[in-house]
Amino acid sequence: MDPYRYRPSSAYNTPYMTNNQGGPVFNNTSSMTIGSRGPVLLEDYHLVEKIANFHRERIPERIVHARGAGAKGYFEVTHDITHLTCADFLRGVGVQTPLIARFSTVIHEKGSPETLPDPRGFAVKMYTREGNFDMVGNNMPVFFVRDAMQFPDVIHAMKPNPKSNVQEWWRIMDYLSYIPESTHMFFWWLDDWGVPTDYRHMDGYTVHTFKLINKEGKETLIKWHWRPTCGLKFLLEDEAAKVVAKCHSHATKDLYDTIASGSFPEWRLYIQTMNPSDEDKYDFDPMDTTCIWPEELFPLQPVGRMVLNKNLDNFFSENEMLAFSPGVVPPGITYSNDKMLQCRIFAYGDTQRHRLGPNYLLLPANAPKNAHHNNHHEGFMNFLHRDEEVNYWPSRFDSLRMSERFPISKAHVSGIREKTVIPKENNFIQPGNRYRTWDHDRQERFIGRMVTALSDPRLTHEIRAIWISYMSQCDKTLGQKLASRLSTRATM
Ligand code: HEM
Repeated sequence: MDPYRYRPSSAYNTPYMTNNQGGPVFNNTSSMTIGSRGPVLLEDYHLVEKIANFHRERIPERIVHARGAGAKGYFEVTHDITHLTCADFLRGVGVQTPLIARFSTVIHEKGSPETLPDPRGFAVKMYTREGNFDMVGNNMPVFFVRDAMQFPDVIHAMKPNPKSNVQEWWRIMDYLSYIPESTHMFFWWLDDWGVPTDYRHMDGYTVHTFKLINKEGKETLIKWHWRPTCGLKFLLEDEAAKVVAKCHSHATKDLYDTIASGSFPEWRLYIQTMNPSDEDKYDFDPMDTTCIWPEELFPLQPVGRMVLNKNLDNFFSENEMLAFSPGVVPPGITYSNDKMLQCRIFAYGDTQRHRLGPNYLLLPANAPKNAHHNNHHEGFMNFLHRDEEVNYWPSRFDSLRMSERFPISKAHVSGIREKTVIPKENNFIQPGNRYRTWDHDRQERFIGRMVTALSDPRLTHEIRAIWISYMSQCDKTLGQKLASRLSTRATM
């Protein structure tokens, strides 16, 4: 046996129990003691190693999206979009790419109930022949803020109070009262949409604007959308209460049981497209994560389908240690100037180096499935077998060369340094339009949830009045109804 090629996993083939050094274990129930009653001897190597390993079983949970479930499957191209992109995995109808998906809730901890109103994460990692492609989205098409500088604050306000360890409305409504652009998100989060029945019956949106580039270098602004073939379903409060009373992991269980029964959840992937020269034509900024691209103006165009047909083999390896980043895109797909996206490109790898260690990309679920080669090496827990002598580049002793050039964005960027808000803020038109599409009952449920949020006794008259003002700017009657329920007048 070549000891350097030996893989730890083959240890599982041994017919008898060993310690992690491969030594035989003949007693896995009793510690080694002086006499049968103790004291215990520290020389019981197996005992010490077993306990020490147990102490280290947990890794830090994700700072957001800690609670989640996933599955594996494939993506299949159903419509040709090679006129828009040179991405290899989109090279033709019928091409399939293996993938792993993870769905999550955002705010609460790893073991929290899956019935709480919260955005749901919708992350997909495709293992393409040109490296990984991560789509790291949510089930809502907009977000609370449009600048990453505010992300830690919005998350702090929504996470439990650091003193009471309970999520409290006064903190959320206080903070977001400074962020009028968060108003649109309320019309998803506190709508029925806020609690999907499970992970199978929800949409996915990457929220940000990305760019496709074709082989001639032509660029198209796009938004990605996932739509479940089994339709959307949501839990209203009384249904959610019944579900959680029976099982606080109902959505995880639903995904697992559905796939195990041979029924495979499926989503269709669509794009909305915009010509970059039209960017300034609309009453909203297309890079603004608090606005949608209306489907009447930008119809959905089909691209492919995702089928989840295999449960995870191991939750820890393929869920807890799974690492996504919106920065991970193959040739043919690139970023827009969206300033929040630009920060996210940095943020995910940074947190994963902390959460999983510097070699998180060596972990099987995260490593690309195509051959890859560079001289990024060593570091903690590096288990790659490498025997080369040339670990620099270029070298006349190593034939490693750079890949063929692929098109990158040629869009011209110029300007002076700024630290400011976007010029075209449009905070209230889209949420108002959405509210007016709802029937009376749905509007009433939304108002009821807003009233609950704003009835927190620690909220001041001033904060309630600000929220009534924001809601009135979305829809006058909505503002009036809210004001009368709260016995408060708007401040403009
Ligand atoms: C500047 C804004 C944002 C920052 C700084 C940020 C940061 C983070 C961080 C640090 C994580 C934990 C990652 C890990 O531990 O592996 C995370 C997870 C996640 N974020 Fe964001 N996020 C931002 C906005 C968004 C937005 C707008 C979306 C939706 C489009 C989103 C979707 C997700 C999802 C789905 C996950 C979970 C990924 C998984 O399943 O492992 N995030 N985010």
